[in-house]
Amino acid sequence: MDKKNNHLSVKEKWEKSVSDIVKRFPERKQKFTTSSNIEVERLYDSTVEKDSLGYPGEYPYTRGIQPTMYRSRFWTMRQYAGFGSAKETNMRFRYLLEQGQTGLSVAFDLPTQIGYDSDDPMSEGEVGKVGVAIDTLADMEQLLDGIPLDKVSTSMTINAPASVLLCMYIAVGEKQGVPLEKITGTIQNDILKEYIARGTYIFPPKPSMRLITNIFSFCHDYVPKFNTISISGYHIREAGSNAVQEVAFTLANGMAYVDAAIESGLQVDDFAPRLAFFFNAHNNFLEEVAKFRAARRIWAKIMKEHYQAKNPKSWKLRFHTQTGGSTLTAQQPDNNIVRVTMQALAAVLGGTQSLHTNSRDEALSLPTEESARIALRTQQIIAHESGVADTVDPLAGSYYIESLTDEIEKEVTKYLDRIKEIGGAVQAVEEGYMQREIHQNAYQIQKDIESEDEVIVGLNKFRQDEEVEPDLLKVDESLEREQVESLHSIKNNRDQQLVDKALATLKENARKEDINLIPAILDAVKAYASVGEICNVLREVFGEY
Ligand code: 3HC
Repeated sequence: MDKKNNHLSVKEKWEKSVSDIVKRFPERKQKFTTSSNIEVERLYDSTVEKDSLGYPGEYPYTRGIQPTMYRSRFWTMRQYAGFGSAKETNMRFRYLLEQGQTGLSVAFDLPTQIGYDSDDPMSEGEVGKVGVAIDTLADMEQLLDGIPLDKVSTSMTINAPASVLLCMYIAVGEKQGVPLEKITGTIQNDILKEYIARGTYIFPPKPSMRLITNIFSFCHDYVPKFNTISISGYHIREAGSNAVQEVAFTLANGMAYVDAAIESGLQVDDFAPRLAFFFNAHNNFLEEVAKFRAARRIWAKIMKEHYQAKNPKSWKLRFHTQTGGSTLTAQQPDNNIVRVTMQALAAVLGGTQSLHTNSRDEALSLPTEESARIALRTQQIIAHESGVADTVDPLAGSYYIESLTDEIEKEVTKYLDRIKEIGGAVQAVEEGYMQREIHQNAYQIQKDIESEDEVIVGLNKFRQDEEVEPDLLKVDESLEREQVESLHSIKNNRDQQLVDKALATLKENARKEDINLIPAILDAVKAYASVGEICNVLREVFGEY
């Protein structure tokens, strides 16, 4: 009898023994599934087909994009931070860098994200609330004061006005005397997921895609080490998608950006190496590890086979991960430290390049310094004490992980084919296809929590009556007034003629579709034109979505 048949008889014997036991000890559920409704078998064994896994640093990168991964360099510990004034945020940045953080990540307040100045009526009550208030280059100079831009890479979570904040960052780099080609960082610059899930868009899709590809082209020519987009699945997952949808909709958006860049006349290998991604690390630990491995393999095939990219750097899916904000509970906040630890571990075992760990109190408010420190320490303990960073892709070869990686790849590919039938991601967004899929899943999640099919410890089970209110971060209400005063003094002291000229040039160029708008925006920010003034010029030409 050959080995496989012999194996089956051993397995059949085992299954017989199981059926006897489950009569006395039935399993907890009829059917176990992952977040993506992929059935979880009782056991995975050597009957799982493990197609050639390949090697880390080699196509299709299932096992990681670098041959040595964290043995050479840990993932970047990059905590998202920003609140109140540029000065306050600069202090938090310096604190986090002192505590051992290895990259910066800027959270901007909503007015900045939607292109309004702090003194705009639309900004009332929001200035400095969910992130730092940035109006002019003067604020950016304060934000980055004492931070060497040739040594620190900075991520900026900004989308519709991404071109303006990128230009401010470049202008600060120039003032520090850092050559443009040494400036590193990432601009989120992903408008499609804003339409789908996050909401901070300004302009209609077409001009938005133009601004995005203008950044691709400008950075290719002048700021080659800057990652020009962070194609985000994080917010898609936060809106209620499952793991498969998170990957599928993110990669579909990625393909739409590649198509737009090629249509604008760029060669794929000219911009693809600087595309970056941003995923969520959610609760289902093993599904999350498999999700990251599947995403890398799918993207590598898309870039090499579909787009015929020749440069291996174009095939590598490089990503940042943030642990799942929506999994945090307001109840028993310390439990969140455990959730974040597991989610961070999944991201590391999934091969992330950069990581943000949420703070325990973020279901209640922006994190206190102490909570942010514990979140950073969580990463440092995984890095330095757990040993998981000492070998590459340690879970590879696990029957379940490999089976689930294949399953996720299959399910994601079905979604990508569906979106292709619709006409691509932009069309799918405009038809509301992805939004419907996400809302359906979000509704199911909510039902499962209410029925307790999905147990959330401290929320729908193992509750505690007395909830001790932890001390929370308070943003000083006087900030809005001070920010408006500082904006007005900048406006009164700048060369108004220079500003008017720069804005007039920008408006003229915006009217001509084939002109790259970044140089004109750069001139405007250097003249201390504000985010609102620049975005209002573009609103006049492009309209609002
Ligand atoms: N062997 C050889 N080289 C290695 C290596 C190894 N093992 N490990 C790293 N390196 C190299 C890399 O190749 C790179 O060099 P290169 O630029 O010349 O290729 C250098 O070391 C730095 O490594 P990474 O590029 O991997 O790390 P970074 O941290 O610089 O970049 C990234 C990571 C994912 C590519 C980048 O896009 C990034 O930092 N993204 C962060 C995005 C982010 O923080 N977003 C937060 C959003 S918050 C939000 O939106 C949520 C809110 O809305 C609630």
